[in-house]
Amino acid sequence: MPWKSLLKLPDFGLFRQTADFRLSVSTLRINGILPSRGDVQVQAENLATQVRCHKLDSVVEDISTDRGVISFKVNRKLLFSSTVMKTTISTDEKFGLNSELLNTLKRGTTLVEYSSPNIAKKFHAGHLRSTIIGNFIANLKQTLGNNVIRMNYLGDWGMQFGLLGAGFGQFGSEEKLKQNPLQHLFEVYVRMNKEAEHNEDMKQAARDFFKQLEQHESQAVSLWQQFRQITVDEYQHIYKRLGVHFDIYSGESFHQDQAQEVVQQLQSQGLLKTSEKGTGVVDLSPAGDMNSVCTVLRSDGTTLYITRDIAAAIDRKEKYNFDEMIYVLLFSRDINIDCRCQHVPFGLVQGMSTRTGEVVFLEDVLDEARARMLHNMSQAKTTKEMDNPEDTAEKVGISALLVQDFRGPLLSDYRFDWDRMLQAQGDTGVFLQYTHARLCRSVLKYCYATTFDPSLLLEQTSMTILQHLLRYDEVLYQSAQDLQPKHLVNFLLKLCHLTASAHRELLVKGSPPDVAQVEKKLHQHAILNN
Ligand code: ARG
Repeated sequence: MPWKSLLKLPDFGLFRQTADFRLSVSTLRINGILPSRGDVQVQAENLATQVRCHKLDSVVEDISTDRGVISFKVNRKLLFSSTVMKTTISTDEKFGLNSELLNTLKRGTTLVEYSSPNIAKKFHAGHLRSTIIGNFIANLKQTLGNNVIRMNYLGDWGMQFGLLGAGFGQFGSEEKLKQNPLQHLFEVYVRMNKEAEHNEDMKQAARDFFKQLEQHESQAVSLWQQFRQITVDEYQHIYKRLGVHFDIYSGESFHQDQAQEVVQQLQSQGLLKTSEKGTGVVDLSPAGDMNSVCTVLRSDGTTLYITRDIAAAIDRKEKYNFDEMIYVLLFSRDINIDCRCQHVPFGLVQGMSTRTGEVVFLEDVLDEARARMLHNMSQAKTTKEMDNPEDTAEKVGISALLVQDFRGPLLSDYRFDWDRMLQAQGDTGVFLQYTHARLCRSVLKYCYATTFDPSLLLEQTSMTILQHLLRYDEVLYQSAQDLQPKHLVNFLLKLCHLTASAHRELLVKGSPPDVAQVEKKLHQHAILNN
């Protein structure tokens, strides 16, 4: 648009003309668009005249000047009807997606690996973060039109299965395994681990079991399979509470044999070097001086975790031919194999515990969130009778967890704080759900009309909400760029605050019918966005 280039305005970002906006001569001077001398009002008027000569953009309907400030007025009728209102209820989930800005994003197949817990081991805060962040990224990519493959890479191989297999023979119970599989497997593993520390026979039994597994002996394999399947079933059930699912449950076990092939491939390409210690390494140093290496082979010829990880990456590329693969994990294991692979790191969570102590299972966190929320609801005077308070408490509690985690930059560490995250006021998931519920109840139910006159919306509150809603695509764009959920979460929280002011200031009930109709429509859009 010519007038924008005249003012050297960026195409996207600050000036998308969703709001009336002003530019002062002094700013334009600093940016070198105007000379730094002369009368400011004269300069402003000259520039305004030039801009008027260029065809104004249809959204900017008027331009005026006052004491060195140029004001651009947007055509709110056009803005309102063409941009927001053409999105009808029936296409609600498409809101904001048909955008020039979003169309500039590359699309393709995205494989996202997240959650990836280890069978029979603790599900720690890092796994929780990986689960919810990965799910956010997968949802975002899917919403933006990518073909998304959601993968869980289980820790389903290794010496822990030796301990588990041998330990199950000693301390296991089929009954308990059915009742509470994750708990029971964890108990057996912990107990056997302890025993093996001082009992040589136990240690040997574990080694033997793992050897049988590696040699694919059917009895060992079938027990392993049972443990794995039961774990996957249980996790699927718990993930569902979080709104999380996976297309593929892969795992380390899948790539045992392929790991040796990786070593061979590296060798045939001349990339495998032998270190002074006799291990097999790949030289990653730019100078080629072995300053930074990746060990892929122990001196006894066995492969390492990373070797299987490389095998897994190659296998995924061959099977799913992704355009990008995103690993959502706490620690970088140097798996940025090429530029199509990206690592999304995140910070530590301190103090994640429940009333009964340290968190061991994902289910504990979810149960605690629900119980605490239920308690808060029973304390609040304003809580209305509801059909299923448990279900409400569960949903609100989980929102609280998500908002706590997503508000800041992913790389920041944070302190887990039940009381703060479950507060009804302030930037919490509870406030978000409350606003959404309130909108649904008071507005959606009574709003049927399809025609209205947006120019009747004169209050600044309405305009601000409208302008905010129109930033939605920018918010998605930002998140797509850096894969951070904070943009979206803060956008929604702001929307909630704006909605709260609208509730105070725009009294749909008392307004003349035509104005009320538009106001309702606006509320409705706030709902859809939530
Ligand atoms: N299971 C691992 C852990 O709990 C995480 C797996 C991460 N993914 C990977 N491709 N290495 O630490």
